[in-house]
Amino acid sequence: MADIAVIGAGYVGLTLAVGAASMGHDVTVGEADPDRVADLMAGHCPLFEAGVGDLLREGLASGLLTFTRSNTDAVTAAEFVFLALPTPSAADGSADLSVLHAVVEELAPHLGERVLVLKSTVPVGTNRDVTARLRAADCTAPVVSNPEFLREGTALADFMRPDHVVVGGDDAEATAQVAALFDPDCPVTATDPMSAELVKYATNAYLATRVMMANSFADLCEALGADIDAVTAGLGRDHRIGPFFLQPGPGFGGSCFPKDARALLDLAADHGLDVPILAAAVKVNADRQERMAEAVLAEVAGVFEPVVGLWGLAFKAGTDDTRESPALRIGELIADRGATVQAYDPEASVGATDDGTHGGQTGVPIVEHDSALEAATGADVLVIATEWPEFTGEDLTEVAEAMRGDLVIDLRNLLDPEAVGAAGLRHRQIGKPEQE
Ligand code: UGA
Repeated sequence: MADIAVIGAGYVGLTLAVGAASMGHDVTVGEADPDRVADLMAGHCPLFEAGVGDLLREGLASGLLTFTRSNTDAVTAAEFVFLALPTPSAADGSADLSVLHAVVEELAPHLGERVLVLKSTVPVGTNRDVTARLRAADCTAPVVSNPEFLREGTALADFMRPDHVVVGGDDAEATAQVAALFDPDCPVTATDPMSAELVKYATNAYLATRVMMANSFADLCEALGADIDAVTAGLGRDHRIGPFFLQPGPGFGGSCFPKDARALLDLAADHGLDVPILAAAVKVNADRQERMAEAVLAEVAGVFEPVVGLWGLAFKAGTDDTRESPALRIGELIADRGATVQAYDPEASVGATDDGTHGGQTGVPIVEHDSALEAATGADVLVIATEWPEFTGEDLTEVAEAMRGDLVIDLRNLLDPEAVGAAGLRHRQIGKPEQE
């Protein structure tokens, strides 16, 4: 078992920390936010992430997991120092590495021979740039890139049972040590730093593009009278394609696909290259959400003071994250055009404003409610934008009675069409003929 420091207690760092402690590693987490450290020390998990809270409390109780505001204290006993820091999009789409650079500068005098592991998603070339920064500060620590493939909502399960591990570094011994740290039987791609960094972007770019393909096929299904479920089932059974990431919906969102797509396009542009298929995926994605908002607005065009019910704010089910959420964006686009948007999400919220409504990225108010039924009450149209399983348990007859209109626009193909029809509601799905 190893002594591990994790710098950054976001969903990547915290999942890594609690997972590693549960395996018996000794883990110290450095986190700059004092409130977050206090919460974590008290066993309160600040994330809505399945299983992480339980392992947090187990780790604290066993003494294998500790938190500190001091990054230098965190690394004192460590053999491996994982950086899991935010790398948000800068205004030009590139990744903003200012937090990462500041931490590297802070830690350089304290690292010695410890292995520095880059978990954060960083532009290709960052490993060698960080190495150069360390060498300039007379630090000889090896630097290993070890990108993460955790999905929000299933992050812990993905950490405990990864498909594969990617490691890249110029120091072969340190690279092999990192590869063997958590799951020695897992398939490993051990490579140079640039390739390891690119695998991460390539994976997210490929998956985002694949989702966009599924969405384009869904559009075609609607135009042609075909059924997207049959099309994706047939596609997915070809072993060269596989069944995953073919679920059509309101487009991809979250803290990763959109940001990483922009960063990869920016990186390519820096080298005089274009990635047209990825650029198209980003554009088609943004257009899709506008088109979906327009379709909702068209349904309430003649209505005085229209009301739209919105089930879901999170960018997908299983998380409270609304970053670049299609649900939130569609809601905001509709509210921006004057309709009242009444939203309910089991976990996510938009952020309070002074007048009791909630404003998201654009500041356009969305009114949040405490239940799905309340959000549907008085609605001319009900939009299902996040695929929370609990929505399938709603009493649709009650929903139908509470609504002013009778149309459900199901952007996740979540509800059972027969149940919707039986409740007297019209059901519009993605890539399917409308049920009247
Ligand atoms: C994604 C990757 O799946 C992870 O491997 C990666 O580690 C992570 O980004 C990251 O870079 O940190 P995540 O953003 O949590 O994970 O979400 P996904 O489950 O990949 O979904 C991304 C978006 O695509 C969501 O908006 C989701 O609703 C949408 N999606 C996904 C679809 O519309 N259809 C699908 O079939 C799959």
